[in-house]
Amino acid sequence: MTARGGPGRPVGVAVVGCGTISNEYLRNLTSFPDLRVLFCADLDLERAKEQAAKYGVPEAGTAAQALRRPDVELVVNLTIPAAHAGVTSAALAAGKSVWTEKPLALDTATGQRLLAEADRAGLRLGCAPDTVLGAGLQTAWRLMTEGVIGAPQTALTLMQNPGPERWHHDPEFLFQRGAGPLFDIGPYYLSVLAMIFGPAERVAAAGHRSRDTRVIARGPRAGTVFPVEVPTHVSALIEYAQGPVATLVLSFESPLPRHGFVEITGTEATLALPDPNRFDGEIRLRPTGTDEWQVLPTAGAADGRGLGVLDMARGMRGGGRPRASGELGLHVLETMEAIGRSVADGSFQPVRSAFSPPCALDPGWDPKARTLVSA
Ligand SMILES: NC(=O)c1ccc[n+]([C@@H]2O[C@H](COP(=O)([O-])OP(=O)(O)OC[C@H]3O[C@@H](n4cnc5c(N)ncnc54)[C@H](O)[C@@H]3O)[C@@H](O)[C@H]2O)c1
Repeated sequence: MTARGGPGRPVGVAVVGCGTISNEYLRNLTSFPDLRVLFCADLDLERAKEQAAKYGVPEAGTAAQALRRPDVELVVNLTIPAAHAGVTSAALAAGKSVWTEKPLALDTATGQRLLAEADRAGLRLGCAPDTVLGAGLQTAWRLMTEGVIGAPQTALTLMQNPGPERWHHDPEFLFQRGAGPLFDIGPYYLSVLAMIFGPAERVAAAGHRSRDTRVIARGPRAGTVFPVEVPTHVSALIEYAQGPVATLVLSFESPLPRHGFVEITGTEATLALPDPNRFDGEIRLRPTGTDEWQVLPTAGAADGRGLGVLDMARGMRGGGRPRASGELGLHVLETMEAIGRSVADGSFQPVRSAFSPPCALDPGWDPKARTLVSA
């Protein structure tokens, strides 16, 4: 076992949770020269070993074994939402910085505790989605800060499909507390809105659940019936502290799939953004008084999931904070929790947390560059 990396060395990474999304992460993380993926961990040891073998990761085992390694500096938490806080907290206690999949935790109070634990230990905590670092959303954000739509005022956003039990092999968690369309897909839309408009101030919402059970459609467990514990359609209104308002519709109830509808309207134009669940995609501009969309070019990295881990790892060596930060993850979590309360009782609900706005990535930021030197 090698010693913990020095200031200029690649950052040692362990992936905890080797399920569906670990494929995209492991493919990318093992291709970034500034990272060394050293360990794959899962409750299911066979699964951890398979993923390690598939992506050339030298060792596999339990999360506890990963945390005992001195050469692991950064834990990438890809477990299911109910396990996020426990895995993150254990990693922080072992002196590791953590990148966690969304949501940061199941509730705001736990999210606040995790941020405090990271702060106390002088460690970094980053939170998905890192699609906000992709070429599409970064370009759109840059264009808006340059004033291409004037002052941003309102947003109209929509994601609807029949539900992830149609493709995910173990979809139960996607219909439990910590998921549903609000907590599973909401982070993509709410993170980009927060990046553009700043912190939310209050929300109102209505929700719906058409069925109490669903059936797994694909994979070895196809035909399994499982319970639906959360609303599967949510319509929310969000007011931002700086004045803008947004409409957000998230649904696992629609036979008609529509993804990635995000239109931001400013005083002078509307900008149609790429799908916030993707790293690239088209940006279209429609200035007031014109009747055609103009397609605008995008610039930046579009490698996929893992960009946030890399940004955080480079920050660990260079002193920077993660752009897709735990602080932003906490604000998004609080916003979702407030939307959930509004669905339950019909009232407007306040959102109180704030976050420091992340600085934009340079369009030339290159994930494949070797900025940290191997020993
Ligand atoms: N599937 C996707 O397309 C997708 C996309 C983006 C983000 N995500 C997010 O990624 C996370 C994982 O999703 P998934 O689809 O890969 O789930 P999954 O069920 O396919 O995989 C989760 C894995 O985590 C393991 N695990 C659970 N608790 C653990 C613990 N305490 N310690 C170690 N391992 C543990 C499970 O054994 C399983 O192998 C979720 O937060 C989800 O929201 C998923």
